[in-house]
Amino acid sequence: MKRIGILTGGGDAPGLNAVIRAAVKTAIYEYGCEVIGIRDGYDGFTDDQGVIPLGIEDVRGLLPRGGTILGAASRGNPYARKVIRDGKEITIDVSEEIIKGIKRLELDALLVLGGDGTLHSAHELYLKGAPVIGVPKTIDNDIGGTETTFGFDTAVTTATEAIDKLHTTAEAHHRVMALELMGRDAGFIALHAGVAGGADVILIPEIPFKLESVVAKVRQRVERGYLFSIIAVSEGAKPVGEEQVFSRPGDEIYVPRLGGIGQVVGKYIEGQGFETRVTVLGHLQRGGTPTPFDRWLATRYGAAAVRLAARGKIDRMVSAAWICAYKIFTQ
Ligand code: F6P
Repeated sequence: MKRIGILTGGGDAPGLNAVIRAAVKTAIYEYGCEVIGIRDGYDGFTDDQGVIPLGIEDVRGLLPRGGTILGAASRGNPYARKVIRDGKEITIDVSEEIIKGIKRLELDALLVLGGDGTLHSAHELYLKGAPVIGVPKTIDNDIGGTETTFGFDTAVTTATEAIDKLHTTAEAHHRVMALELMGRDAGFIALHAGVAGGADVILIPEIPFKLESVVAKVRQRVERGYLFSIIAVSEGAKPVGEEQVFSRPGDEIYVPRLGGIGQVVGKYIEGQGFETRVTVLGHLQRGGTPTPFDRWLATRYGAAAVRLAARGKIDRMVSAAWICAYKIFTQ
């Protein structure tokens, strides 16, 4: 193995830089192999300034740094790239250019740090000859084949802190506080942060809910003498028989943007006579320094991905399984 490439696709997640650092160190120290960084997801392959060599000095101090030194591109689908041609906006397929780029750079492997969209594209590129290896990244924790993704723990930590803070003000003002959390179609962030923060109601996409049941819980708490309630709402949650709430429709490039269910829930509760406020935590869940757990996981993933590359195991994804957790619950 002489040279590998690394790119970070899709939305960012805390821990991307830690993966890059571990991959570079493993590649150079264990295998004496060169590492090339591809900027802005797959975009770097089609841009003159899109590739940079990564040495040990380039990854110093990266462990605690959020974001990604390589840049990310949420609309980076190689099969539908938006470009301006003759003053008109059109979408084109740049997958062949990416394959050519990989060959031109003589990459023995391309580490793709991404979520479901980026990893799906990676597999498609593999079918065209690209030596890809996946590293599962997303705060949503919604990638099959692994129990956890890096970025998730940091997002849950931020969301739990938000619930803790809402608790004190909710209690002081005898209010209901609804907190809308990210996660797309997966309720893991709301579920984990909701349990960790002691939310009274947790609404997740996997279980459609009844607005009346939410209010019944708030009312029951008041009857028991608890004059405040905390509701953790996943952005993809929806009432039984209704559609998810979107703040922006999708198109060829972008998936539809979820957002607004917190307001729907808050408005309904307020309409039933309980003073309610709604907070949307948004991209705070994606920013900042990764937690120690995410740094640890990202480091293990980065090193493992390079070792997979060295063994020629392409079209694979590194993953984590927590067998001990199963034991705790069954003993
Ligand atoms: O997939 C990660 C995620 O943060 C989702 O939880 C959220 O729905 C989406 O990305 C937001 O995307 P964007 O950064 O494009 O607004």
